[in-house]
Amino acid sequence: MVSLTIEGRPVTVPDGTSILEAAKSAGVLVPHYCYHPGLPVAGVCRMCLVEVEKFPKLAPACATSVGEGQVVHVHSPKALEARKGVLEFLLINHPLDCPICDQAGECELQDYTFAEGRADSRYREPKRFNPVEDFGGDVLYVQNRCILCTRCVRFMDDVVHEPVLNVSERGDRAFIGKAEGHDLTNPWAGNVVDLCPVGALLSKDFLNKARAWELDRAATVCTGCSQGCNAVAETRDNVVVRLKPRPNDEVNQYYMCEVGRQGYRDFNRRDRADQPLVRVNGQLQVSDWEDAITVAAQVTEGRRLVVIASPNLSNESLFLLERMIAERNGTGVFRLSRGNESVLPGAKDLALRAERAANATGARSLGFSEVTQFTDAIRSGDAVFVVGDQLDGINASELSAASSVVYIGTALPAAIAASVSAVLPVTNTLEEEGTLTNLRGRVQRYLQARTAPGVARPTWYVLADLLTAIGGNGRFYLPAEVFAALAATHSTFAGLDYDALGLRGLPLAPAGATSTAEVAV
Ligand code: SF4
Ligand code: SF4
Ligand code: FES
Repeated sequence: MVSLTIEGRPVTVPDGTSILEAAKSAGVLVPHYCYHPGLPVAGVCRMCLVEVEKFPKLAPACATSVGEGQVVHVHSPKALEARKGVLEFLLINHPLDCPICDQAGECELQDYTFAEGRADSRYREPKRFNPVEDFGGDVLYVQNRCILCTRCVRFMDDVVHEPVLNVSERGDRAFIGKAEGHDLTNPWAGNVVDLCPVGALLSKDFLNKARAWELDRAATVCTGCSQGCNAVAETRDNVVVRLKPRPNDEVNQYYMCEVGRQGYRDFNRRDRADQPLVRVNGQLQVSDWEDAITVAAQVTEGRRLVVIASPNLSNESLFLLERMIAERNGTGVFRLSRGNESVLPGAKDLALRAERAANATGARSLGFSEVTQFTDAIRSGDAVFVVGDQLDGINASELSAASSVVYIGTALPAAIAASVSAVLPVTNTLEEEGTLTNLRGRVQRYLQARTAPGVARPTWYVLADLLTAIGGNGRFYLPAEVFAALAATHSTFAGLDYDALGLRGLPLAPAGATSTAEVAV
């Protein structure tokens, strides 16, 4: 370990740490552009210059390792003057189009210029102009705004292992070039938009949709596959407009794939079930919640219960369903869609997984089994709860043996629209909170990002009421209480605590471990 002083604050960090990272751990932000913790150090932007006592000249904090007893000044007049010069050079050709730039409000060039730059420009010549280029995939390159930090080039080279981008030309004509015949259609290439510190790489999908300051943000977990990438859901006026990666070294480092990013659209469906419905004289009619829950419970009386669950349901919802199944001596099944796996080679254990659902691991550990069709699971006279599954590709005849079907979900599937006894409208993942278990057995929390339509209620809340109506103990008032009951009754979840999961999650208990401390990473 090495001890040094940064801006008067003593800090001790492992040998080999850069001054920039050491400053971070001391709570001091060293301005930077080319440095990114997920990429190899390039040291090309010079924005991180700091003064180190006894050094003959200023040092780039990203490329200089800490030394024992070093005294570092980040905000000394000499360091500030140097960085002011760097900003002046960067702005020589950078257009002042912040009012129409998608990056405004989350742009590091704006932020550092505001914090440390010159109040005005000494440059009187016309600025360089270049047209916008379509880089393929979801990415637009606005060359005028590029500060040539090379983060995008290094990401494609060192993390994606597809060297599509390069620095073409030199001097004031330099720009980011794209290899002839290649583009950014790799499922992981969209991360260059997040990595770009300015508005030079933009998402076509998000273009002109919102200003950064209009967005509400909530921590969530991507439901696109079993990897469970940590994400931030951004909403504008209750409409989800973007999913961005949230760093988690144990799961997705700093990245998300394109399948996950584009998955935000599903959460904005307009054809939502938003009122409880019950069938009266052959017709579905709007009812209140009490009646709908009573009808749903009554159809299971004296019958075996088959639950068709979505593998995107939370652990809490699956646990409550498991209890209902136990009350009615039934069974729980789920279907899983599969796709091609796409590995991000430069990141540890990160891939768009073949299993395109967020909680198949949770479903399996709570006793649900995977099926491809329902005819074997449903016996004549069974009561069936379809929970979250949209029954895509399912023929109504597969459920014809059931005495009655209840739908608990977000949009009533056509296959059962004519036969359901009751519809209980519930929230989607971004409208409730809960936990999901990824393919490595990491249990991760997600938070509510938008409000549900109509009188739809959180899935776990509806299932708790239904469990009580069926005769079980469903007196839970918070998802944390459901999770506590789950952890208390299932050895695989033993030792986990809802609050202790935080926003980065914890792994399921390995066999033999008994406390959260033993399983925390
Ligand atoms: S496009 Fe963005 S990430 Fe790439 S070099 Fe330019 S400023 Fe850096
Ligand atoms: S890898 Fe899976 S979890 Fe991660 S962003 Fe892609 S679809 Fe979502
Ligand atoms: S961040 Fe250090 S030189 Fe760019």
